[in-house]
Amino acid sequence: MYRDPVESLEPLHHRQAAIRTLRVGMIGIGTVGSGTFRVLARNRADIAARAGRSIELVMVAARNLERAAGIVGDSVALTADAMHVATHPDVDVVVEVAGGTGPARDWVLAAIAHGKHVVTANKALLAVHGAEIFAAAREKGVIVAYEGAVAVSIPIIKALREGLAANRIEWVAGIINGTTNFILSKMRDEGLDFAAALAQAQALGYAEADPSFDIEGIDAAHKLTLLAANAFGMPLRFADAQVEGITALQGVDVACAEQLGYRIKLLGVARRQAAGVELRVQPVLVPAAHLMAQVNGSMNAVMVKSDAAGLTMYYGAGAGSEQTASAVIADLVDVARLDGVHAAQHVPHLGVHAHATNALAVLPRAAVHTSHYLRVPVHALDQIQTIAASLAERKVPVHQVALAAERPGVGPQVLVLTGPVEQGALDLAVHALQARAEVAGPVTTLRVESLEG
Ligand code: HSE
Repeated sequence: MYRDPVESLEPLHHRQAAIRTLRVGMIGIGTVGSGTFRVLARNRADIAARAGRSIELVMVAARNLERAAGIVGDSVALTADAMHVATHPDVDVVVEVAGGTGPARDWVLAAIAHGKHVVTANKALLAVHGAEIFAAAREKGVIVAYEGAVAVSIPIIKALREGLAANRIEWVAGIINGTTNFILSKMRDEGLDFAAALAQAQALGYAEADPSFDIEGIDAAHKLTLLAANAFGMPLRFADAQVEGITALQGVDVACAEQLGYRIKLLGVARRQAAGVELRVQPVLVPAAHLMAQVNGSMNAVMVKSDAAGLTMYYGAGAGSEQTASAVIADLVDVARLDGVHAAQHVPHLGVHAHATNALAVLPRAAVHTSHYLRVPVHALDQIQTIAASLAERKVPVHQVALAAERPGVGPQVLVLTGPVEQGALDLAVHALQARAEVAGPVTTLRVESLEG
């Protein structure tokens, strides 16, 4: 009688374990949790077919049990005690979608200590406590998966770890916060003011519980930290990232950038240099014709420059309930497939710390090398050449100089686009410029990213 050689080698109890239902305990049933519940229920059969076993939500921890019951009905056990879910013997995998870095750290570490896999969309938790969490997961041989933590609907973690596994990654750059991209788009396209645009983003469920994480660039820096660790095999270095949000951005610069053929986007950039890695989030000018400039509303996009594949770009929703659920459930499918497989053969979900091969340092701000946009308020229109000469004198390459189009209530402004120059050198030149009698007010500088090669 024919016997499949693989099947005959595999003990029966292993095969039985592999086809058992994957039992999920979820902590939090807010925007992401409720989306995960809905998508799991709606696409149950397809998800089971892809996972090779069914995935069932068996337990939910929620702060407001009445509200939670309104979402999940009586199909799922409810508890107000998140630790109960994290440690319960009937739970194989804990989905942490409550957010925050305090209690969430305890729940995730407890789940790992109890031998459970963890799926989380909590970028703040991983950027800040990831080293500890991934080390604990490695020790226990369990998976910590977090596709939903970065650019929610876009499978960018999988792209870096799996699709681009052959490559040396040179840089990763992207629009990785939906809320700020939504605000910038609304302000530019509909003339909405900042506060109104933020209120809309909050109403649509895009913003963090504390929206200052979005508008100050912190959320994007959390995600960038995870991207850099995956791209370069370096440890998580959130504390070293340079972070600037969009709160200080002025409408006049958005208009002047347009005049020069650029658009301002809040970009996260992680770039490998000889001496270390640039890790920075800030509003930058990107060429208006570039695909990145066409990414509007709450959409995200990430570009990756690698040695073999070259430039690749990934685009999709950057915030939202079912958009994040899509990534959370994809991670559950991975866990369903890999649960029971020897830990060394997992796609390296154990994460970045366990695979940190490269103790790359983050470069200080002064060493970052990019082109810049300068807006210099002047007293008179004929001072354009004086400004250009002052910069050139201090070794700042001046590529373009122009007068800003007249705007009501705004005095004459000289606009400058520089060539690539170290931030330290630019700072000195701007300092000298600022002291000149021709200059009528504070000089504004923003980085320019060509996003090429
Ligand atoms: N507040 C986040 C954003 C949610 O706007 O991108 C998705 O991570």
